[in-house]
Amino acid sequence: MNYHVSKTTLGENPKFEYPKPIFLEEMGEEGLKKLFSEFYDLIVDSDIGNFFPQDEEELEKVKAHNVKFFIEAAGGPKDYTKAVGHFDMLKTHEQFSITEKARREWLGTMEEVLRKTDISDEAKQSFWDFLETFSKHTVNVDEKQELEDLVVKKG
Ligand code: HEM
Repeated sequence: MNYHVSKTTLGENPKFEYPKPIFLEEMGEEGLKKLFSEFYDLIVDSDIGNFFPQDEEELEKVKAHNVKFFIEAAGGPKDYTKAVGHFDMLKTHEQFSITEKARREWLGTMEEVLRKTDISDEAKQSFWDFLETFSKHTVNVDEKQELEDLVVKKG
């Protein structure tokens, strides 16, 4: 299993492949719900926790909603698209300022949960490879630029 993370180049729009069917076959929808429940519990205590609701009830809603995307991406029912009307994660993340550092924190948290998940390496690798590339599409802020903007604002 290789949890390699390669660097994002802003605006590069890399091609990605959805996870292989074997991933959903081995995890099952219930397994994915459990995985993402653990993931979001860790995310709220991470360096990017400030992006997510800290209120437990709100977080449960986020878990129940967001996992639909991952079940659909893994080849399951299209419940996310039915609920939201699109499957466009770029659009969804535009409203947040996401840096490469934030992406790495997100992926690092996912790695922590995946390491404890008992499925085949082939299934796990295909999910990781999807996330590693797909997450590049959520990065929309140049870290250096962000720091410079902060300095300018502080005057
Ligand atoms: C593989 C990468 C990622 C995927 C597939 C993904 C997927 C999703 C999905 C499905 C949603 C729910 C959208 C909706 O409201 O319908 C969401 C929301 C959100 N994502 Fe991501 N995300 C990724 C990476 C990131 C990263 C790196 C950040 C960094 C901060 C992030 C921050 C957020 C936030 C703040 C929300 C709104 C809160 C919420 O409803 O969860 N995401 N994401």
